[in-house]
Amino acid sequence: MSISEEILNVQSLKKYFVIKKGFLQRTAGYVKAVDDVNFYIREGETFGLVGESGCGKTTLGRCVLRAIEPSEGVTLFRDRDGKMKDLNGLDSKELRRFRRDIQLIFQDPYSSLNPRMTVENIVGEPLVCNGMASGEALRERVKELVEMVGLSSRHLERYPHAFSGGQRQRIGIARALATNPRFIVCDEAVSALDVSVQAQILNLLRDLQKRLGLSYLFISHDLGVIQHISDRVGVMYVGRMVETAKTDDLFKQPKHPYTEALLSAKPIPDPRKKAARIVLSGEVANPANPPSGCYFHPRCQYAQDVCRKKKPEWREVGPDHFVACHLADELTLQGAVKS
Ligand SMILES: Nc1ncnc2c1ncn2[C@@H]1O[C@H](COP(=O)(O)OP(=O)(O)O)[C@@H](O)[C@H]1O
Ligand code: SF4
Ligand SMILES: [Mg+2]
Repeated sequence: MSISEEILNVQSLKKYFVIKKGFLQRTAGYVKAVDDVNFYIREGETFGLVGESGCGKTTLGRCVLRAIEPSEGVTLFRDRDGKMKDLNGLDSKELRRFRRDIQLIFQDPYSSLNPRMTVENIVGEPLVCNGMASGEALRERVKELVEMVGLSSRHLERYPHAFSGGQRQRIGIARALATNPRFIVCDEAVSALDVSVQAQILNLLRDLQKRLGLSYLFISHDLGVIQHISDRVGVMYVGRMVETAKTDDLFKQPKHPYTEALLSAKPIPDPRKKAARIVLSGEVANPANPPSGCYFHPRCQYAQDVCRKKKPEWREVGPDHFVACHLADELTLQGAVKS
């Protein structure tokens, strides 16, 4: 199979939230929630984004969708004519057209589904808002969508409260698919569900991907979920991407000490194969006041002088393998132990 083209290419993306203080609301500083991030996603691929809570995953996902405005950077997205367009340079009219192509699935479907609307209206709303269907055609399309996600047309007249968590996530997925998108950001989409239901939803997302040729940015703090669903993985730390690689490479041969530490903290199902655990000491750095040099240096067991002084460059260290660490070529790090 030939390597497919990129659908998304994010370059030097930044999102700084302004911190205001006092009666006069003066600018007191910035939360560097996304700080100079680079990565790409290929057509038909699932790119998993992982990192501890607060490291900027949600902010990055929302900047890509332009649900919030990035402070700086380029977000190239492949248009239907095959050309790459910078979403950050689009005016509101052009953006509206692209919004059909890029959809979001949230963590908590309950809070994102209007409790006073029937499933039929929830799933059909994006079609009505975009003037894409009405009357009988709308009803047919909504029926097709709910069946596509494993619900049936007898569910259409019911309200969200009548459904289980997994079923509500299916409704959220049907709604996201309504406008026929090509790219979907899933933000902790299965994190609120029981493990058995998680697997069903992950399988559904995979089936839909094959069937509809979708590309996913799949955000989760759960390494097990990320490993299960992703073709490639990106690891974030304090607003920065520290490593991206094919899933197997990342789990077997991580090149960044933070990735190694995350993998060693993952519960290992077979205790006989227990790897040496690296205990991540200290707190995640504060994105409003990050450390000098490499942001990970206060917690890194390999840190040297250069790490405290200089920001590591983002560079390619192997096929499809990028890392930001001064010592990436010298260190031999431990991967996850197979379960
Ligand atoms: N609207 C906002 N204003 C100020 N700070 C924010 C805002 N949204 C998120 N942040 C901060 O940005 C950082 C990244 O948050 P987030 O993207 O939610 O991380 P994650 O999804 O990885 O848990 C956190 O320090 C968070 O407190
Ligand atoms: S640059 Fe230095 S401190 Fe940062 S991860 Fe690499 S070795 Fe550790
Ligand atoms: Mg989040």
